[in-house]
Amino acid sequence: MRQLRKPTATFSVKIKMTNSLHADKLRNDPRIEEAKKLLLAAVAEHSQTLVSVRPPNPELTVDYEKLLAEFGSIRGNNIFFPYLGSGIGNGPFVELADGSVKLDMITGIGVHGYGHSHPMLIEAGVDAAISDTVMQGNLQQNTNSCDIARLLTETACESGAELKHCFLTTSGAMANENSLKMAFQKNHPANRIIAFPKCFAGRTLGLAQITDKAKYRVGLPDTISVDYIPFFNYKNPEKSTEYAVKRLKYHIARYPGKHAAMWMELVQGEGGYYEGDTEYFKAIIDVAKENNIAVIADEVQSFCRTTRPFAFQHFGLDKLVDLVTIGKISQVCATLFTDDYNPKPGLISQTFTGSTWAMYAAHAIVSGLIENGNFGSNGRNVQLHNHFAAGLRAIGEKHPGTVAGPHGVGGMVAFTPFDGSADAAKEVVNRMFHAGLMSFMAGGDPSRVRFLMPLGCVTEAHIDMACQIIESVIAEMKSEMKA
Ligand SMILES: Cc1ncc(COP(=O)(O)O)c(C=O)c1O
Repeated sequence: MRQLRKPTATFSVKIKMTNSLHADKLRNDPRIEEAKKLLLAAVAEHSQTLVSVRPPNPELTVDYEKLLAEFGSIRGNNIFFPYLGSGIGNGPFVELADGSVKLDMITGIGVHGYGHSHPMLIEAGVDAAISDTVMQGNLQQNTNSCDIARLLTETACESGAELKHCFLTTSGAMANENSLKMAFQKNHPANRIIAFPKCFAGRTLGLAQITDKAKYRVGLPDTISVDYIPFFNYKNPEKSTEYAVKRLKYHIARYPGKHAAMWMELVQGEGGYYEGDTEYFKAIIDVAKENNIAVIADEVQSFCRTTRPFAFQHFGLDKLVDLVTIGKISQVCATLFTDDYNPKPGLISQTFTGSTWAMYAAHAIVSGLIENGNFGSNGRNVQLHNHFAAGLRAIGEKHPGTVAGPHGVGGMVAFTPFDGSADAAKEVVNRMFHAGLMSFMAGGDPSRVRFLMPLGCVTEAHIDMACQIIESVIAEMKSEMKA
């Protein structure tokens, strides 16, 4: 079992050297070590039996359905999947409260990077449980807020970026909202944003304007004005880059001095797993920089999923980004920013910056992925992607017209099912769920089926299991279409 990496340093060397803190004495108390061992042994004993998918237990079905209906009614809307976790899992396997076991290849849309019931995160939870508070916030933070902020900024600056500052928060939307506020304040009175079609930035009033989906702003007032420039087209790299630059210049000429930021989701997640290339991004950023437009990279979904911890590093944009946002797999969300974008006091503050468990877990997950070889041009993220992509390609070849692609980068994998209609993607996702495999839809026109694997624990054998389920669902749908 991998030991939780302890933060290498705290901000106050003096505190560490005197070792006189009651908190250190508590953490080093042998009873805590013993309790951790007992807890981890108990969890392992119960979770290790979950090694394959399993249908629901008929004895639990009636109550489960009732619970789902009640929850749907309390929420005002049914949840997408009939999914209520029981609270235990084993890596990518998760038990639901109906007794079924699913192979989780979507992980709460990219959140559970070490899957379910991982010992490293249980240990982080115990460290958090013996800490004094559940939540940390701007008025009162513990040293582990400093530890995660330091890890993120040091990792971000590893190859030349100037992202020396980091503001923690509790959601991707809030990290994005904070980045927007910093960009607007610095570039005042500019009040417009440039973005890519199909981008998803989050669901606040401000971000709903940037998110390129009309359905997500029905009934909302207009807040920010957004101009869109075409995204990279891998089928025509040069032309699409040229055209995007032309449109960018057109918008800037139309509203001189009015654009505060260029909003860049470098690998589009909700939009359907589209990525640009370095030349495309650089060409756009050159124009943005000439016009004092902030470059914001939204990495809430792609963080830790490419060949480097940050997607801007994967694309070699280190010296060009002004603000970067992360979330999901990091548990704690954050806005990283350069000196130039450091906001004036009063602009950004939060009661909650994250729970203590999230802080410990964030450190364990990010450093765990770095230390376990997930990054690099032939790191685990790439190897897992290639294995999954090969499996999907094989299904597509065996059943022509059913699986196109695959698409995505590293720990983001997708395919286009059948005719790429929204109905086809939804049907595949739902049938796979009932067959034991969790995925989700992405994009529209074409609609895709996507996976956000638990990169810290998934193996090629798990991917093979996933591909078997995908193939059985695809073959079943194909034969029904023929009949
Ligand atoms: C690229 C991107 N930005 C922002 C968000 C919003 O994050 P959250 O749902 O944590 O507010 C998401 C969520 O899917 C996302 O994919």
